[in-house]
Amino acid sequence: MWDPAQALRARATLPGVSPFREERGDRWALFLDSVSTDREAFALSVARGLSDNPRWLNCRYLYDAKGSEIFSKITDQPEYYPTRAEDEILSRYAGEIRERVGALPIVELGSGTSAKTRRLLEAWTEQGPAHYVPIDIDPSVVRDSAATLTRDFDSLRVSALATSYERALEQLDDLSPKMLMFLGSTLGNFSPPEVARFLERIEDALHPGDFFLLGVDLVKSADVLEPAYDDAAGYTRAFTRNLFERMNRELGTDVPLDAVEHVAFWNDRLERIEIYARFSETVTIRLKSIQREFRIARGEMVMTEISRKFRIERLATEIGHYGLRLEKFYRDSEQRFAVLLIRRVPKGPRTTLRRKLNAELWETREKTRQIVEPLGDEQLFRGGDRSIARQLEHLAGFEERIRLEHLGDPNGTTDPICTHWTRAAAVHTRRASIAQYLTAVRAQTLRELQTVDFENDHPLLEEGLFYRRLAQHEAQHHEQILQSIQSMAIPYEPVCRVNPPSVLRAPEGSMVLVPGGPCRIGSHRSSRAPFSTPEQWVNVSSFWIDTVPVTNGDMLNFIEDGGYEKRRLWSDGGWVWRTEANAHHPSVWHRDNEGWKEQHFGRWERLARYRPVIHVSQYEAAAYARWAGKRLPSEEEWEMAASWDPEYGIARKWPWGDEEPTPERANLDCRTFGPAPVGVYPSGRSIYGCQQMIGDVWEWTSSTFRADSGSSLETSDPSKELRVARGGSWATSTLLACNSARAFHPPHERNAFVGFRCARSA
Ligand code: AVJ
Repeated sequence: MWDPAQALRARATLPGVSPFREERGDRWALFLDSVSTDREAFALSVARGLSDNPRWLNCRYLYDAKGSEIFSKITDQPEYYPTRAEDEILSRYAGEIRERVGALPIVELGSGTSAKTRRLLEAWTEQGPAHYVPIDIDPSVVRDSAATLTRDFDSLRVSALATSYERALEQLDDLSPKMLMFLGSTLGNFSPPEVARFLERIEDALHPGDFFLLGVDLVKSADVLEPAYDDAAGYTRAFTRNLFERMNRELGTDVPLDAVEHVAFWNDRLERIEIYARFSETVTIRLKSIQREFRIARGEMVMTEISRKFRIERLATEIGHYGLRLEKFYRDSEQRFAVLLIRRVPKGPRTTLRRKLNAELWETREKTRQIVEPLGDEQLFRGGDRSIARQLEHLAGFEERIRLEHLGDPNGTTDPICTHWTRAAAVHTRRASIAQYLTAVRAQTLRELQTVDFENDHPLLEEGLFYRRLAQHEAQHHEQILQSIQSMAIPYEPVCRVNPPSVLRAPEGSMVLVPGGPCRIGSHRSSRAPFSTPEQWVNVSSFWIDTVPVTNGDMLNFIEDGGYEKRRLWSDGGWVWRTEANAHHPSVWHRDNEGWKEQHFGRWERLARYRPVIHVSQYEAAAYARWAGKRLPSEEEWEMAASWDPEYGIARKWPWGDEEPTPERANLDCRTFGPAPVGVYPSGRSIYGCQQMIGDVWEWTSSTFRADSGSSLETSDPSKELRVARGGSWATSTLLACNSARAFHPPHERNAFVGFRCARSA
């Protein structure tokens, strides 16, 4: 028998840091984690929203004990129809839904007091024993409902979860079959990209055949909608105001509550209600625990909530992109609200995935062509075995070999991209024949991609990983080829070069505090970033970290202070290297009578003070950090600062969240041919406020690289010590760069596109 409690307990006792605590009662268990009560996460969330433009606050914090009480008053107001409409639907159709779904356990996201769920629990328990898994961020509310419901329904078992939706969905993917439920039109609180991320998580959490019951409010006239969000008795106003009362209570701010006005209106282009707190006087919000401060001007509006309204046909199409099919929908007598019965369907022919992989392979190849096009034959073949020509030949060789050796071996579990390859002898000595070789091998790959069975149980074919790895591997070589070009110092003008953004919004402070605690690092099974550490929990102590990478200007101060000559700033190994290499400045720098210059693809350019320093060894980075009274971050610290979202208790894929990189968020994909000045990617900042963690320059950490299982790298040369760099450079591909991806080099390496930022223990 499927037992959610047991499955969750198994999860909770995973080795490492246990994220869940358990409480038990008669026929109920409650699993709760720290996300539900973390005040620092609340403070960080407020800081993040208030530093955005326009400002916003996460609507999730509207629901503390007092907020939930006010909300339940709202649902009783004559103007607020959604709760009554949904209740009418559920009471009318609960029996029919039970008939269609069968005796499956009910898992509810955002269960609250479970009032609306009673109709369904009645229909379920009438037919026999039932399981209910309520999930809510507020532990007291789920504890109460677990106890009350098991008392009211004799044949009911409850396994409650007090955590975020995101965290819960990760725990639920192996609990099947089930009916997942998301009622009350809470989906309306999400913006379109948030809905997309949410549906991806739903898709992952459901197995083919599982059901999903979704309650949504429908588009209708502003005359009905606006009063529903500004009731005459003033409960909605009090609801908005309570968010600031809660800040005062829990974060020690002193927002004058009389200055907070509730503003709600229907935005008919975006088909949503927008709710704001408008300030009738200038207010300063001081977040003491994280040492941040915000001044809100008189008249300014802070968005506290959106409530989108839906159209059934459009929603049915949208969920179709996430393996979800609308089976049936139910509406109330006035057709104001809808409850959708949705089913997770098997994956089908995967044409979207095939098309995507096909495009990735073509685009990557086109970029390869563009990168080498400006090179003459002499430059292409310069360096013999280390030449760019040999790298190109290797791309085709790799593609041929991994098809045979990895796909050919049904038990093969090694990841080809993490394997150390001894290169075959050169066969092609002319540019044209290398090009032919590449094209021929790729043609076969693309042919196979059209028909290959992704579900044929070879671990490398799952979700098309094999093809993604081919594109990623080629993209890795883009960066390597560009490093070769840069170290040859030949004049090189790329086919296409784009200027980075010029609008500068540097962070307010130079360092931010990352509150310590347990966090999860490493590649989640769904992302599988190459070379990342396996997914694991680590406990990190509080630390400070630079908001931007160390710049050329910073490095110049170090040089002018004699940093390269001060023995005490250097480690033993670093000093040996410094002396032997006779290093007195970064490798690509030189000074003439006009001042400092930087060599950039064969040209000497005036040193740009506000650009991140690049082409420094880890020894130089560590010496600078010591000079500045700081140190390099460990890779765990770096990853936590980039990825850990304490508000939701999950690791994000990129510093800004889980949405794909764009040219506004990060400098990647060989567009700019150099790092951009610090402060020009404000929308790429992390939850803690760090900018440019992904892109521009890789960043040295203090950590030594240890290859993990699934990689044969450790056998390549164990005597060589490698240090980890994180984050990716301007030449790293979007296919590779993410918070958990790693690069590694010997600590004296200066050719790579690596810079650094500093940290300090708190
Ligand atoms: C709980 C998100 C469904 O959007 O109608 C009601 C929240 N806010 N009045 C909604 C809410 C102000 C409600 N949801």
